[in-house]
Amino acid sequence: MERTLAIIKPDAVKAGHAGKILDRILSEGFAVRAMKLVTLTQAQAEGFYAVHAERPFFGELTEFMSSGPCVPLVLEREDAVAKWREVIGATNPAEAAEGTIRKQFATSMGENAVHGSDSAENGVKEGRYFFSESEIVQNGADVIDA
Ligand code: PPS
Repeated sequence: MERTLAIIKPDAVKAGHAGKILDRILSEGFAVRAMKLVTLTQAQAEGFYAVHAERPFFGELTEFMSSGPCVPLVLEREDAVAKWREVIGATNPAEAAEGTIRKQFATSMGENAVHGSDSAENGVKEGRYFFSESEIVQNGADVIDA
């Protein structure tokens, strides 16, 4: 089993799409191991996206990610990282395939509805950015995917 960190971004929460995205997560066979609703400070967003600090859109990205509530989730299933990236689609919604979450809900490169980790290692690391070990439930203790 592999873990990935998903975030339902502020644009999707604000537009009322969080429930539909959660439903899609469950229907794609992911177990939700942790989930919360949180408004990040800009410093927290900068910490999460530190790898992009030198990119020209860094200010725009971190301002957007701290602009309202978002929903980080630790997801688990086989091939979680690749599967979640397949389900969300390309970063640029104009290039996202039919049926992907970004095709359905994203409006731009920045406001693109959801995040997904890019490797299993980062899935674990990013999960720890938002949740302590005690907040990540183990198999069998999860009422959401029971
Ligand atoms: S990738 O596939 O992770 O390498 O995607 P990348 O294009 O490098 O983008 C990394 C994250 O930056 C966001 N992004 C932007 N935000 C604002 N403005 C612009 N122009 C822009 N371009 C990219 C993009 O949504 C990625 O966020 P995450 O949360 O990682 O998906």
